[in-house]
Amino acid sequence: MNNRGFSTRSIHDAEKPLKDTGEYGDVVIPIHLSTTFARKEPETATKGMDYSRTGNPTRQALERKLASLEQAKHGLAFASGLAAEAAVIISMLKTGDAVIAGEDLYGGTRRLLVNFGSRFGIKVKFVDLSNPQNINPLITKETKMIWCETPSNPFLKITPLREVSRLASEHNILTVADNTFASPFFQNPIRLGCNIVVHSTTKYIGGHSDTIGGAVITDNDEIFESVKFFQNAAGGIMSPFDSYLTLRGAKTLSARMSIHERNAKSIAKLLVSSGKAKEVFYPGLDSHPLHSVAAQQMSGFGGMVSVRLNTDVKGVRRFLNKLELFSLAESLGGVESLIEVPSMMTHLSVPPEERRRLGIDDSLIRISAGIEDEKDLLEDLSNGLAQI
Ligand SMILES: Cc1ncc(COP(=O)(O)O)c(C=O)c1O
Repeated sequence: MNNRGFSTRSIHDAEKPLKDTGEYGDVVIPIHLSTTFARKEPETATKGMDYSRTGNPTRQALERKLASLEQAKHGLAFASGLAAEAAVIISMLKTGDAVIAGEDLYGGTRRLLVNFGSRFGIKVKFVDLSNPQNINPLITKETKMIWCETPSNPFLKITPLREVSRLASEHNILTVADNTFASPFFQNPIRLGCNIVVHSTTKYIGGHSDTIGGAVITDNDEIFESVKFFQNAAGGIMSPFDSYLTLRGAKTLSARMSIHERNAKSIAKLLVSSGKAKEVFYPGLDSHPLHSVAAQQMSGFGGMVSVRLNTDVKGVRRFLNKLELFSLAESLGGVESLIEVPSMMTHLSVPPEERRRLGIDDSLIRISAGIEDEKDLLEDLSNGLAQI
C-alpha cells in the first residue's frame, strides 16, 4: 500500500514500466493471452505463473490495482460481479449458517442468496440496514455474515458501515460491502471496518459499458486464501482481455466519478424542483435521511439517482419515450446516461409481494447519470418530464 493520491495510484500502481509490464518497457500491462507458462524447472513456476486460470499477469495487475484503490492488501478478479459474490458466499459460509442482508439490494444478489443459498442450507434474513438497531434482534449463533450494499439499489439508502462492522465484529460476524455504487473513489469500506468488499466492475470501474467483471477485495490473508482457492477451484476468472479493459477504465475513474456526481446532483435538484416527482432519492440531497452519514463515510455521493414520478405507467412510458440521451437499459456506471424501471427490469426477480412491500412500483425510475454535458442532460430530462 502507498499513500499517493487516488488518481496517481489508479494510473501507476501494478503497471510500473520495466518492473511490472515486461522487458520492453511497455507503459501499460500487455494482454497476456497465453493459457500456460513454460518453466525452467518442473517444480517452480516462472515468475509465479503456471496456468492462466490460477494466475495471469494481466489479471494479476488488475487485482493489485483494485486492492490499491480500495486501500487494501488483496484483490481477486472474477468473470462478473455475481461470480465474485458467489465466490464470497461459497468460500465463507457452510450449511446451517445465516446471513443478514440489506433488504434494498440488487435483485441478482437477492436471487443468489435466496435461490442458491437456501439449496445449501444457508438462511437469509433481509432488513433495513440503514438503521443498525434492526440488526441485533436478528443475530443468532448461526449468523456468520452481514451483507451490505451502500448506497443501495434502487433506493440509495446508506448503511452506516463503521457502526455495522463494529457490531458485527463483536459477534464474530463478517461484514461484506458491495461498493459498486460508490466506487472506490468515493468510499473504501475496508477502511471503515468491513472485512470484504465486492464490486461489479462492469459498472463504474470498467466505466464504458463494454466489459462484464467483478472483484473481491480484502485485507485479511485467510479470507484472501479461501476466496482465491475457490477462484482457482471453480474457475470463474476474469479473462485477460476483460482485465485489460477494466485496468484501462480504472485509470480514469477519478475523472469520471467527479462528473458523474456533478451531473447526478443537478439531476436530483431538477427532479425535486420539477413538481413531477413524489420522492427523489439521492444521498447528496440535504433531505436524504442519512445524508450526514453518507457525508462522513463517503467523499462524494455518487452518480445514481432514483425518483418516484407523480404519474401512472402510461405517464412513465411517455416520459421514457421522449428521452433522447438516456438509454432505457439495465446496468449503470458507464459514460453514457442510462435510465430504467426497476420493477420491470433490474428488480423483476424480486417476488412481486416483496417489491410491493419495499415500494418498488412502476412509477419508480432509476437513473445512472453519465458524463455528458450537464445542460444537455437536464434539457433532455425536462423534455421528458413535460410529458407527465
Ligand atoms: C450493486 C450491484 N452489485 C452486483 C451486481 C452484479 O454484477 P454483474 O452484473 O457484473 O454480475 C450488480 C449488477 O447490476 C449491481 O448493480
